[in-house]
Amino acid sequence: MKAETSVPVHEIIATRRSPRSFNESATIGDHDLLGILEAARWAPSAFNGQPWRFFVGKRGDQTFSQILTSLGEFNQKWAKNASALILVTAKTTKSDGSIHADYQFDCGLAVGQLVVETHHRGLIAHQMTGFDKTIAQKELSIPAELVPVVVIAIGTQDVPEKLSGPLLERETAKRERLSLEEIVLKGLPS
Ligand SMILES: Cc1cc2nc3c(=O)[nH]c(=O)nc-3n(C[C@H](O)[C@H](O)[C@H](O)COP(=O)(O)O)c2cc1C
Repeated sequence: MKAETSVPVHEIIATRRSPRSFNESATIGDHDLLGILEAARWAPSAFNGQPWRFFVGKRGDQTFSQILTSLGEFNQKWAKNASALILVTAKTTKSDGSIHADYQFDCGLAVGQLVVETHHRGLIAHQMTGFDKTIAQKELSIPAELVPVVVIAIGTQDVPEKLSGPLLERETAKRERLSLEEIVLKGLPS
């Protein structure tokens, strides 16, 4: 289902969504995973500070299990079927000791690019902040200078019917957004 837009936008932007029905037997190739990480790596950031640091797990390996353990119960239910889980962490201080004031913003840009590249490759991505940062830090022995920011499940989309209850409802729900009139407070083109 395409997003309703006043003028056409890029196909990936119009069709991307955050599904929860992942094919539990699909795997992700290293080539795709590298492409997805390269897309994140080449994101812009304040002063080119690149505060993002990634922990990447493929289903079946230890890093995947460690990231999965940190997810909330609701997210674990469906994210366990992803082909990969990526935990994005960030350096909050620069090498000169000054603060990376915009680290959350920078990581958001990197993840935005990662998500677009993922969908461009015919895969799906679903971001989550529903995870326990302390558990993630312990499980993955994350160095103290890094702060967990977001987890992204990546994989191959499956049919909605693989889900049930509220998960199925959300999977097939119409995507909603505020109107441009509500979010452009001055200068909306007519
Ligand atoms: C920062 C962030 C955190 C999110 N956390 C979760 C989460 O913990 N669990 C979940 O099921 N979805 C999560 N989502 C997915 C959003 O609910 C979803 O992007 C939003 O409803 C819009 O739907 P769409 O991506 O399909 O357009 C998160 C999305 C973002 C960007």
